[in-house]
Parts: sequence; C-alpha cells; structure tokens
Amino acid sequence: MGGEDRIVEMRHITKRFPGVTANDDISIEIRRGEIFAVLGENGAGKSTLMSMLFGMYEPDEGEIYVRGEKVRLSSANAAAALNIGMVHQHFTLVQNYSIAENIILGMEPMKKIAGLLPCVDLKSAEKRIRELSRSYGLEADPREIIEDANVSTRQRVEILKMLYREAEILIFDEPTAVLTPQEIEFLLDIMRELRNKGKTIILITHKLEEIKRIVDRCAILRRGKLVKVLEVAGASTQEMANLMVGREVSLVHEKKPPRFRDTVLEVEGLTVRNEHKFEVVKNVSFSVRGGEIFAVAGVFGNGQTEIADAIAGLIKPYRGRILLKGKDISSEKIRGRTEAGISYIPEDRQRYGLVLDFTLADNLAVKNYYRFPFSEHGVLRESGFREFAERLIEEYDIRSGQGSAALVRSMSGGNQQKAIVAREISLGSDLLIFVQPTRGLDIGAIENIQRQILEERDRGKAVLLISLELDEVMNLADTIAVIYNGELLNVSPAAELDTRQVGEYMMGIRS
Ligand SMILES: Nc1ncnc2c1ncn2[C@@H]1O[C@H](COP(=O)(O)OP(=O)(O)O)[C@@H](O)[C@H]1O
Ligand SMILES: [Mg+2]
Repeated sequence: MGGEDRIVEMRHITKRFPGVTANDDISIEIRRGEIFAVLGENGAGKSTLMSMLFGMYEPDEGEIYVRGEKVRLSSANAAAALNIGMVHQHFTLVQNYSIAENIILGMEPMKKIAGLLPCVDLKSAEKRIRELSRSYGLEADPREIIEDANVSTRQRVEILKMLYREAEILIFDEPTAVLTPQEIEFLLDIMRELRNKGKTIILITHKLEEIKRIVDRCAILRRGKLVKVLEVAGASTQEMANLMVGREVSLVHEKKPPRFRDTVLEVEGLTVRNEHKFEVVKNVSFSVRGGEIFAVAGVFGNGQTEIADAIAGLIKPYRGRILLKGKDISSEKIRGRTEAGISYIPEDRQRYGLVLDFTLADNLAVKNYYRFPFSEHGVLRESGFREFAERLIEEYDIRSGQGSAALVRSMSGGNQQKAIVAREISLGSDLLIFVQPTRGLDIGAIENIQRQILEERDRGKAVLLISLELDEVMNLADTIAVIYNGELLNVSPAAELDTRQVGEYMMGIRS
C-alpha cells in the first residue's frame, strides 16, 4: 500500500477514562475511497476511537496522521478543516429551521452575521444543496422545516451538511439503529454512492449483516483492544462474530419443527385508547397456541407495546376480551394474571422489570416472595432466596460481581435481562410475553436469550414475542403478525413470508 492510499493512520492510540481503558494501544490504517467498519460489542471502544478522529477527544497516547501528515485534532473545527466529518444520529439539527438553514448554520462566513440568515446566501445554499442532493441520490427538500422531516430525512440532512462542508472522510456511528428495513436499504445505497464518488466512509456498527453487504475492510475491537483487521470479502459473519465476542457463538439457532398444542391465549377485539382518547390498538384479534412463537413485528410506536401491556394487565383496554386457556381474565389484576399463568418480560427492564437497588436474589424472587420457599408462615426465609438465586444464576449464566448478593444496578444490561428472563421462566407460566427481549444487548447475551425462548417453545409454552428487530422475528417466529398504526395487517406462518414482505407490511404497504 503506497502512502497515497493511506488517508488516515492511527498509531498506538490509547485513551483512558476514569476506571477504564477505552482504547488500548490501537493502530489502524484507513484507505482512501474505502468503506471501513469498526465492529465490536457495546463498550468495546468503537465510538471513543472514532471520536478522536472528529475532534471530540484527544488521545492520551499515540499519534494520528491524515494524508500522511501528523495532526492534532483538538476540536470539531480542526477535523472539519481536514475534511473529516461526523454524521450524527440526532440532536444536532434545529427543529424550527429549514433543511437549508440547518445545513449552512455554523459555517464560518455565516457566524459573522448576528442572528438572521441573509436571503441571498440562503438562495445560493439551496441551489448547492439541490445539486448535492441530486448528485448523491440524497433526497431532501431544502425548504422543508426539520420538525416536519422524518428520521431518515434528518439523517440525509446530516450527510448533506457534511458534503456541503466538503467532507471527504465521513464517520457514521451506528446509523441504522433508528431506521426501518427499507430505510436501511436506502442508506446502504447512499454509502455505496459516496464511495463511488471517492469519499472515504467509516462505519461504526455491531451489525454483521451490514458489514457483509457494503464494507471493504473491518477492524474488530474487543474490550478496548484491536483484535483484528480483515478483508470482509474473505470473511464469514460467523468468523467476525466469534472474533467480536471472543468465543464460538451461534448466530442462527437450530430450530426444530413446531409441535403446536392447544390454544393458550385468545385476544378478541382488543382496542386500547391512549390518554387523548386516540385508538392506539384497533380491534385486534389473534390467538397463540402452546409450542408456538407468535411474533408481532412492526416499527416502534404502532401499538405493539400496548397489546402486551393490556394482556399483562398493566393497562386497561377500552374494549375487547383476553382469554387464557379458555378463561376470561380481562378483569384480573396483574398479580391475578401472573397466577393464572402469564410471564412478562417488559420492554423497559429497568423501570418495570427490576428493582435496581435490591439484590439479585431479591429481584429473582420479587414475583412470588409471599410463597414457599421464600416465605413460611408469613416470615421471609433468607436461605430460600439465596438457594433459589444460586440455582438460577447457574442455570441461566447470570454474571454479577457478587453473585446473588450483587445489587442489580451494578450489573450489565445483558445480565439484568438474563435475570428477568430467568425469573419469568421459573414461574412455569403457560404464556410468556417477551417485549423487545434483546434490545441493546450484545451478541453473546442475545444468543443466550433467544435460545431460552426457543427452549420454552419446545417445552410447549405459548410465546408472544414483540420485537422491532426483523432478524429476530425471522429467526424465531412460527407465526408472524405485522402491526401498523394499531391494526394487524397480516398474520401468516413464518415460512410463507420473507424479510422483504414483512418489511413492506411494517411500512403499511398492503399487497
Ligand atoms: N465520556 C466517557 N467517560 C467515561 N467513560 C466513558 C466515556 N465514554 C466511553 N466510556 C467508557 O469507555 C468504554 C468504551 O466506550 P465506547 O467507546 O462508547 O464503546 P462502544 O462505542 O464500542 O460501545 C466503555 O467502558 C464506556 O463506558
Ligand atoms: Mg458507541
């Protein structure tokens, strides 16, 4: 590789924060015109490493070279001067300004004009934005007010903003986290187009599929250290996953053919209204059998959480009936429903699933502390709590600093989630409701929890899975329902649907 090709070099970079070495002696080279990925689990040090490239932090040790010259990137302006830009996920756009105003905001010549943006500059800016927009396939109307623009448009504005500033090196930090499957497609196309036009792209991600599809080379970080840099074309997702986690992981689960049993859950004409009397769930009916994973797919905010909450008894429906094994439980309270046979793994695990300042042992018993072995003649038995916790810790591989005595607040998100799953499964309920069970978790923890879900299904339990992750739905479900705007658009056996079709229903396209 000649010096010309190396647009960025980071040599022996170390960055420490109190109590953690976020980057430990990392050296990488990025080539001009490539899509380079930085892959790693949560906390691996990806964002920290790239933040030093766009001037957010300076390294404690090591050197950065841009186009062969040693540089000091002490601010975002210093990075911009070297044509390095960060495409932020959100929060950097001003709501009541137009797209064009947002794009020119903060540019040097503009700063001199106090307050108002002069029309003449705005006109030429709009023209330039239209040109860039056309040339890179980045659809955006410069006059649209940001408030009215959706997430995907806002992201395009962030990209246009960088292009307007003549960025040559564009850094994207987990850009697809907020997008629907179709929007992800568009973004990947845009990245390809940017590369074709000679830009260098750095993509921070933990999603292997995206890497496989558009990335040229990929650096894998684990616990602050560089594990490997590889050519993506010659590597499998399995290999990358193993390197990322540091052990063999199973990406695709062995799934036995389903053996459906009797109907466990029946939902009839469920309608839920929000506080503004708006119907967020509209006359929804479905049923789930024992041995079945029934998944509700959909974009965030289409009523799926409300369905789960209404079944678990957290909210009161406006209309409709809920039957568990033929018995109408619509008027039961939460505890009554738990006792009737419902386990619930909520979306907001820290608010509803756990008591953060209690120990792990207390949290594992929190739903049936009033029963043996936790209580006897109305007295709590400490040994009961501890022994039960130790069994679950072992069985479900829940890791904490101090075993059953650890405060839940001190545990990682993945281990908190394993604790909830362990507790809810241990109730032995006929119906398990999982809402976003792997949200924000690492591959290792995702693998563990998805395996538990499949095991419960194979044991004959009815599973209602609510997930925004299309991959998860496709991997686990026996039956897929797609929710859009509070309505179930389609309910079909998983084998009859592919990712594209489900993605289309998620966007409200009815075939
Ligand atoms: N500003 C900060 N202050 C203290 N610790 C931080 C800060 N930013 C990141 N860290 C820590 O550094 C490590 C790496 O974080 P980060 O670079 O954000 O990882 P990633 O982007 O791979 O998820 C983590 O342990 C994180 O908690
Ligand atoms: Mg990050």
